[in-house]
Amino acid sequence: MVRAALLTAVGSPLELVEIELPEPGPGQVRVKLAAAGICHSDLSLATGVLRTPAPVVLGHEGAGTVTAVGEGVSSVRPGDAVVLNWAPACGTCHLCSLGEPWLCENSGAASTHTYAALADGTGLYPGLGVAAFAEETVVAERAVLPLPHGVPLDGAALLGCAVLTGYGAVHNAARVRAGESVVVLGLGGVGLAVLQAARIAGAGPVIAVDVTPEKEELARRHGATEFVLSDDRTARTVRTLTGGHGADHAFECVGRGVTIRAAWSSTRRGGRTTVVGIGRKDDLVSFSALEVFHFARTLSACVYGNSDPAKDIPVLAEHVRAGRLDLDALITDRITLDEIPAAFDRMAAGQGGRSLVVFP
Ligand code: APR
Ligand code: ZN
Ligand code: ZN
Repeated sequence: MVRAALLTAVGSPLELVEIELPEPGPGQVRVKLAAAGICHSDLSLATGVLRTPAPVVLGHEGAGTVTAVGEGVSSVRPGDAVVLNWAPACGTCHLCSLGEPWLCENSGAASTHTYAALADGTGLYPGLGVAAFAEETVVAERAVLPLPHGVPLDGAALLGCAVLTGYGAVHNAARVRAGESVVVLGLGGVGLAVLQAARIAGAGPVIAVDVTPEKEELARRHGATEFVLSDDRTARTVRTLTGGHGADHAFECVGRGVTIRAAWSSTRRGGRTTVVGIGRKDDLVSFSALEVFHFARTLSACVYGNSDPAKDIPVLAEHVRAGRLDLDALITDRITLDEIPAAFDRMAAGQGGRSLVVFP
């Protein structure tokens, strides 16, 4: 039996329970979690903004140690340190064969089957196929990525979502170049990772935007050169800070229609907005037909940082080892499994950076 934070039904609070995990079957790997980050997508799944089958063990940003492998597993062995991957690509579908594994048509398959059970036999679903809010989990081999040496196992959890997503948004999706101006809306774990990635790219100015004034100090520590308190004049303020033109790049890391619109309006003519946030299906964004033409801007979304994690995790690890990527700075609260509800409350109030469950 292992302890897990369980979402019994969408909209209900998480409960600490004991679950029964099977031994890994063919092609599966059992992992003892070292740490799991709290991402806004977990909160969105828990509240029903995003859909998930239930009862479900959430948590999709984790790292740990392999304890057992099933038949046919060859890429990892017991004792290996691994990062969990919530969008493992199949390698063979139409989009994988086009070289866009982050859009794999089969990456969500694991989340639709039960993987564990309560003592009474009730089947449990693994949140985004990962189920990191538990002491241990069982996942498909392709959902574990060997962790390169020199990266501490607790901070490595963040590589599995916030950092892969934020870094990839800047380097794979937007391809920010040195000297380009960047604005980032929303400074949670994802937005702060975008700031660090913009710093690595040599961007400037790097303008950070949030509704919470306390985020200013945090933002500057992650590479922001300016801080703007979000209001209905955000786009105008960003244009003022960029010589009246607007930023070359905007990154929306909130997941709301208003902030997508503000991000788009903050860019220069021909500028690019990369939407990283995930919003509600009924939250609309509007543009006039004339302004779409006149501003000639690009609006695109990015999924999991448009990353191929097997290639990008080693790149991120190299940045960590060289001191360019500061995982510790992203972690503002180290908590236990039973403190996830309080971390959700802080997140809903726009407080802090990443909360990280650290397993004893
Ligand atoms: N303008 C600017 N910032 C805002 C606004 C707004 N109108 N509304 C909220 N924010 C800020 C919050 O104050 C908070 O700092 O957005 C930030 C969101 O951070 P988190 O809740 O920690 O979310 P995070 O885990 O970083 O995820 C961001 O990416 O992966 C997606 O589903 C995820 O949509 C979410 C987004
Ligand atoms: Zn996430
Ligand atoms: Zn695929």
